[in-house]
Formats: sequence, structure tokens, C-alpha cells
Amino acid sequence: MGAEVIGRDIYFKESLDSTQNFIQDLGRQGFREGAVVVACRQTKGRGCRGRSWASPPGGVYFSCLLRPKAILLRNVSWLSLVAALACLEAVAKISRLKLRVKWPNDIFLAGKKLGGALCEVDACAQKINFAAVGIGLNVNTTELPPEATSLFLHTGKNFSENLIIQEVLGQIEKYYLKMEKGKSRELMNQWQKYCFFKGSRLKVKTLGRKVKGKACGIDREGRLLLRLDDGRVEAISGGDIKKIS
Ligand code: BTN
Repeated sequence: MGAEVIGRDIYFKESLDSTQNFIQDLGRQGFREGAVVVACRQTKGRGCRGRSWASPPGGVYFSCLLRPKAILLRNVSWLSLVAALACLEAVAKISRLKLRVKWPNDIFLAGKKLGGALCEVDACAQKINFAAVGIGLNVNTTELPPEATSLFLHTGKNFSENLIIQEVLGQIEKYYLKMEKGKSRELMNQWQKYCFFKGSRLKVKTLGRKVKGKACGIDREGRLLLRLDDGRVEAISGGDIKKIS
């Protein structure tokens, strides 16, 4: 499936500090929605929560410029959910592998991290001026830490990076346009289906406190729902999450 809006302006770069910086520059200059930049490697790739994202050749690194009109800042986590699910569906279609999404923005293969999405926004009050949605996928990467994997390391086969990018863009566009029309059901259903945490007990560090409970889904705002030991259900917007059992 091809994308019509996302990727209509596309830039290919050999090396960048971060594709997120490139897209944010376009965003500030007023470029239209849908611009995408792809880099073969990044020298200062960023991950979530201030982490760095190692970006050697062989991986897929790109960012998209979005200008959501209906998605407000309070629902910005939808964009991370869209990006992670789009990656899962695109890579699963091409590789025929069974993947999982880990809330809110990780893609897992056989219990190891295959990739992740990062959403950075420029907003005023609730209105998002632009969002830079970045994706890193370990496709043909050969050297990774033990907690991560790549399609090549898992299967011994090389995959077309361009084909993966094209499929991911198509899937992002499909879900993004639906979310802009307020149609969140398909995204939520697919997320519940592929969620790595479903039914697991989790330990969550959020807003300076620690809570434990059983993951019981995500809500319409894209928050993770945790049934605490006293029976209450808490909606988690972000934090450091570990699976206990
Ligand atoms: C995470 O799992 O922490 C998110 C990783 C996101 C990495 C991608 S690679 C392309 C884009 N540019 C960056 O600097 N980061 C994102």
C-alpha cells in the first residue's frame, strides 16, 4: 500500500545528526505536512526519555512531518501508537514474522527490541503546530546490544530498507488519517491484539512514584491501563515500564 500525503516530499541523506532535527527545521520553516527524511546513518540519533539511539548503517532511520488539525496535544500519544503499530504491521507483512508492540512506542521481536518511534511536538496550548514522528528499525543491522535484535540477526536474511520504509509510510498514513477523523477504534483494537504487555504484571515508574499492577489495555487517549493490587484502574501516560511476570 502506498502513501499519498506522507512521503510526497522525501529527502534521502547519507548521514545526519538526527532526522528529527532535519524535520523540525522544516516544520519551523513552514513546510507542508508529509515531508519525510531518511538517513543511512545518524551521528546523534535520539531515543525516548533523553536516551541516544545508535544508528549504524543497515538500520532504517526516518522522520515525518505531520500537522495534525484534530489531534490535540492531550492526545499526542496517539501519534506514537500510530507509528509503532504502523511499523509492526509493515514489517510483519514483509517478513511474515510475529511481532509485538510494547506500550507506547516499541516494536518487539522474540522478546527483543527491533525498533521504536519517537514523537516530538511544537505546540501552543492544545494546538499542535507540527509533530516530528521518527522511526528507527533494526533491519539489516549486524551489531546490537543483547536486549535488541534486527531482522537480519533473527532470520539470517537481508531485507529491502526502501520497501520497509514505503510500507511503514503507507500504514502511518492509513491510521493517521483515521485518527484525524476521530476514528480511533481500529487503532485501539489492533493495539490490544499485538500488545506485548497484555495480561502481564508490570512495575511502572511514573511521575516520581512506583506502581505495580496488571496491564489491562489502553484507553481512548492511548494511555496504558493498569489494574493496581487494590483493584483500582490507573491510566498511565508515560514512564519507565518493566514486566514482572
Ligand atoms: C525509542 O525507542 O527510544 C525511539 C527511537 C527512535 C529513533 C528514531 S531513528 C529516526 C529518528 N531520528 C532520531 O534521532 N530518532 C528517531
